[in-house]
Amino acid sequence: MKTDIRKNIKLSNFSTFKIGGDARYFCEVNDENELIVAIKFARKNKLNFFVIGNGSNILIKDEGFNGLVIKMSMKGIKIESKNENFSIVSVFAGESFDDLILFAIKNDLSGIENLWNIPGTVGAAAVQNIGAYGVEAGDFIESVECIDVKTFEKYIIKNKKCNFEYRDSVFKSNKNLIITKVNFKLNNYFVPNVEYSSLKDIFNCPTNSKDKKNFDAKEIIKVIEEIRKNKLPDWKVLGTAGSFFKNPIITIKKYNLLFKKYPNLPKYEAGQGYAKIPLGFVIDKICELKGCREGKVGLYEKQSLVVVNYGGATFSEIDSFAKKIEEMVYKKVQIRIDREVETV
Ligand code: EPU
Repeated sequence: MKTDIRKNIKLSNFSTFKIGGDARYFCEVNDENELIVAIKFARKNKLNFFVIGNGSNILIKDEGFNGLVIKMSMKGIKIESKNENFSIVSVFAGESFDDLILFAIKNDLSGIENLWNIPGTVGAAAVQNIGAYGVEAGDFIESVECIDVKTFEKYIIKNKKCNFEYRDSVFKSNKNLIITKVNFKLNNYFVPNVEYSSLKDIFNCPTNSKDKKNFDAKEIIKVIEEIRKNKLPDWKVLGTAGSFFKNPIITIKKYNLLFKKYPNLPKYEAGQGYAKIPLGFVIDKICELKGCREGKVGLYEKQSLVVVNYGGATFSEIDSFAKKIEEMVYKKVQIRIDREVETV
């Protein structure tokens, strides 16, 4: 197929925040050849380029993008191999993560079902190492296939070399690598992971039990859909990119100081000497900012980590609102917070 490179395309239609000016050039790529044509076009015309998936974790500037935006639309999911315990499933980067989960369930493969209803593509899931309800995509990625935009060489990067961390990977900093395919290693049988508090309350069972037959992955996605519906805004209705900020990772020493003052402050594992704390709790219970609103921008009333465009907000409005939240958190708990959402 031919790469159709169009001019002056409104980017707000390609971002779940529903914000952003025009892309000077825009194209959608359905296979590797189309991707290479797009990169060559950008290089020939000395343009910067940027790859998007479903646009569910980006905040695009009001002036738009003065280069080429490439929408990754490569599709295809296939079971490549199977042994006694695991299957390797190869997935093109433009597939939606939910479609991958449905494919896995249909084929009795498990592991990634806790990531249900995250509105992103498989490629973006690897870049961002998406996580929810005790599971991170990186836990089930065997390798990532990508193209180097400088040399057009293809690489297969094994899990360990992807440097998966909390909402981070090598692909986030190395923009020379464009992900085309992700290979997942999934369990051939149902291995529930219901340790996360909101799931534990519902599925009160020991985890990793191969014999547990009382529920299945379909039940997990049903429950998660319900939890998410009750906590997170529907991106098809309100402008949002889910969690706007990352949960901060602080030293245990700092955590203990905060805990003395706020004894209900939860803590998650984050490696020796560190603790990850829910910023939603800090913004809501410590800063008492739950649901606060400034014009067309606000914190979602049921989840303080989520910034919402209530309709017609601009990049600048979101950015200055977020800066105020960052300052207020610093004033209250002396923690500098990072944004999860990527600015384009
Ligand atoms: N909390 C509050 N008030 C709030 C929000 C949260 O008190 O307004 C408390 C909750 O009661 C709970 C704790 O904070 O004790 C954690 O809340 P929750 O389970 O909703 O998770 P989170 O840490 O706020 C993270 C991810 C979400 C993911 C959930 C579930 C980040 C930045 N966010 O949120 O991911 O769905 O865990 O696993 O790590 C996303 O990345 O866009 C996203 C939605």
